[in-house]
Amino acid sequence: MALVTTKEMFEKSMKENFAIGAFNINNMEMIQGIVDAAAEENAPVILQVSSSAIKYARINYLMKMVQAAVEEHPNIPIAIHLDHGPDFETAKMCIDNGFTSVMIDGSKYDFEENVALTKKVVDYAHEHGVTVEAELGKLAGIEDDVNVSEADAMYTDPEQAKEFVERTGCDSLAIAIGTSHGAYKFKGEAKLRFDILKQIKEKIPNTPIVLHGASTVIPELLDMCNKYGGNIPGAKGVPDEILHEASTSGVSKINVDTDLRLAMTGAIRKVFTEEPSAFDPRKYLGAGRDEVKKAVQHKIRDVFGCSNKA
Ligand code: G3H
Ligand code: 13P
Ligand code: ZN
Repeated sequence: MALVTTKEMFEKSMKENFAIGAFNINNMEMIQGIVDAAAEENAPVILQVSSSAIKYARINYLMKMVQAAVEEHPNIPIAIHLDHGPDFETAKMCIDNGFTSVMIDGSKYDFEENVALTKKVVDYAHEHGVTVEAELGKLAGIEDDVNVSEADAMYTDPEQAKEFVERTGCDSLAIAIGTSHGAYKFKGEAKLRFDILKQIKEKIPNTPIVLHGASTVIPELLDMCNKYGGNIPGAKGVPDEILHEASTSGVSKINVDTDLRLAMTGAIRKVFTEEPSAFDPRKYLGAGRDEVKKAVQHKIRDVFGCSNKA
């Protein structure tokens, strides 16, 4: 199977009520850990690349490594997706380099500017057979001192979502219902606005919904980082049960980066601490790759429900 767009993947996930994992990649070990887990689970998988990942690893290396992953695992659908595309030029560069899906993140702009930018990317992408994810709503972490009306203004407005999708023709929509990026998502209890998700699904039932900022901040991985010399106190993510509920309530794509960073870092810290004489990078990068694979396999199998959905 060659690289696929997210279109076919989402058709199946919407029909069968599960979510597809979208995992951020920056290097070979991350790619191998993710696709090896997906292949063992016989699951579709989205590999996503941010513009800073492109700056770090270079687009040519990333594409070639992803193509190698596709050749090694011909039986599972793999999509290569631009994460948080900041502008038209970056989206175009990715499309021209063979990406099968791009995100244009116009959430920092006002509604009309977001519509115009997204539409421009959609027109170019669709001419090239590429699917487009857009974002409406603000994903900023909701602090304790933010009052209710300020918080409400950040969530995706269901009525606006309908107008946005109709006017832009985007293929999927990232929404804000209480998640945020990074390791510090909640100060108190973790909570998502499933009521808003339900209203959005009623307005745009045929548009796949994307959840960003959806790492669990897996407690074992956080502990591993902290136990072996790290200092990441008080981090908190979205618990597995809530993500599972999202995956059966109309969320089709769940984005994970932070958990993979914790997996890679925790495993490397452990090797460094337990074997101070080790200095072969394969020793610690290999341990990192194994831990990434374990975390991805857990999500695919136990949380997102996409095992055997290839
Ligand atoms: O949502 C953002 C992703 O976690 C990517 O982060 O821009 O540091 O690669 P990054
Ligand atoms: P996390 O920081 O929760 O892993 O979110 C990643 C993400 O949304 C990438 O787009
Ligand atoms: Zn994101």
